[in-house]
Amino acid sequence: MPTKNQNPDVDDITPRPASMVAALRSIGYRLETAVADLVDNSIAKHAKNIWVEFSWRGDASTITIRDDGIGMSEEELIEAMRLGSHDPLWDRGSLDLGRFGLGLKTASFSQCKVFSVLTRKHHHDPVWRTWDIDYVIREGKWILRRDINPAAAADAQQLANQSSGTCVVWQTLDRLVGKVSIDDEIAHKAFLESASRVGNHLGMVFGEYLFGKDSVAIHVGRTKVERWDPFLATYDTQIAEVERFEVKGHCVSVRPHVLPHHSRMTKKEFERAAGPAGWNAQQGFYIYRNRRMLVSGGWMNLGLTRDEHMKLARIRIDIDSGSDFLWQLDIRKSKASPPVSLREDLRRIARLTRSRASEVYRHRGQKIISQGGDVGKKHDLWSLERIHDKVRYRIDREHPLVKSLIEEGQAGRSVNALLVLIEETIPAPTIYIGYAEKPSEQALPFETTKEATMRRILQDLFLALRESGNTVEQAQATLARMTPFDSHPQLLAELDEFDRQHENQARE
Ligand SMILES: Nc1ncnc2c1ncn2[C@@H]1O[C@H](COP(=O)(O)OP(=O)(O)OP(=O)(O)O)[C@@H](O)[C@H]1O
Ligand SMILES: [Mg+2]
Repeated sequence: MPTKNQNPDVDDITPRPASMVAALRSIGYRLETAVADLVDNSIAKHAKNIWVEFSWRGDASTITIRDDGIGMSEEELIEAMRLGSHDPLWDRGSLDLGRFGLGLKTASFSQCKVFSVLTRKHHHDPVWRTWDIDYVIREGKWILRRDINPAAAADAQQLANQSSGTCVVWQTLDRLVGKVSIDDEIAHKAFLESASRVGNHLGMVFGEYLFGKDSVAIHVGRTKVERWDPFLATYDTQIAEVERFEVKGHCVSVRPHVLPHHSRMTKKEFERAAGPAGWNAQQGFYIYRNRRMLVSGGWMNLGLTRDEHMKLARIRIDIDSGSDFLWQLDIRKSKASPPVSLREDLRRIARLTRSRASEVYRHRGQKIISQGGDVGKKHDLWSLERIHDKVRYRIDREHPLVKSLIEEGQAGRSVNALLVLIEETIPAPTIYIGYAEKPSEQALPFETTKEATMRRILQDLFLALRESGNTVEQAQATLARMTPFDSHPQLLAELDEFDRQHENQARE
């Protein structure tokens, strides 16, 4: 029933707290995106240090997010605790990372049923307030508590040693921890693992704040959060020219990056370069607003798939804070959608970057395979054969060496039978899984072969070609078009001398 109202022309229907709370709790925050929303607030209020603490006490465990920013007065705190404390259409300062006036409340409610905010301004005593979901539901009103649980106050005690700052304490972590005892080892381990997940996420989305002149230090427990740079600036990443666009008076800049192949870094570096969500998920667009990463990978519904071969493609987009609405930024600030007028350009840039990325990947990873008729001048041992809708890899019977071996009667037929066996039994699924899951452990062709072994193989091939009637020059020219000898001219040059020695030995 609508409530009675002085104005007979309208009905005042205030939302019911119980259903509003349930809806607000289900916006879809993950723990790490929720913490990031609070870190946004701290950075916007000039914090230089942010401390995230995970305190394990079974079902009484807490997470605190404390900063040394400018803090709030009591009036400001009460206003900050209001759902929708700001009009989202207000112009925000260019450094303000907020938008909706909701983040503090929705992010906190998504993780816990009770949260307290303690804050102090310079030359003022700390003040605090508590939102308690069960209390709100019981009372049927949005009533903010003036008290605080003593354990939560103890978690925030460091604030007393600061001249200003704010501390948010999440209590009753019903989603992350639930009803568990303090001795529950498995729950304890999961709790600590979530702390490291949060650290990785913060290192990614606030990476640009973690270094340089106005840097901010973020600590998760005792660990200082390290920056994760999706573009591997310290490696030889290919960086294309920046393209700038204007959308309704707002500037957008787009800069494609193609990361180096994994063979250019150590296994550890390659694993770290993958990012918190892994190589495949982290390809695509990265949207930044005020140095804050909003979107971390993905192709933004432009009709492009995430593909193993595209994983080296990462494209940076910078937008200004006034263009949130044009990009349909969501409440959690982790999803955005490009303005219609930019979609075609972004698709074009994405396609180009993807094709460059797949070139890097293919060139370094699949040197010995050629596609169908695309043999060119090179002698490739493997070729791709398409029969109806099936594809398979074949050892090319026209390859000079193969040809010379299979032409010789029964011996030739045996070699051919062996080749068919090899072709039919290549452990393709195992190879595929290896490349997908542990690409840095897959050796490139001849990567681990010693030079002496390579020389011996080359000499054997050379002799086989000579025996089938090739001159020294012809044999050399043929071998110069085969991987890997095409990149070893010095070994090919030695073949003249080798041929002479071999002739002499044969004569003796
Ligand atoms: N750590 C903090 N230090 C000082 N003031 C804060 C802090 N956290 C929140 N506030 C104040 O509370 C207000 C409300 O925060 P809240 O996160 O709910 O909304 P917002 O940041 O304005 O917008 P958004 O919904 O996009 O996060 C902020 O605008 C800020 O004025
Ligand atoms: Mg906020």
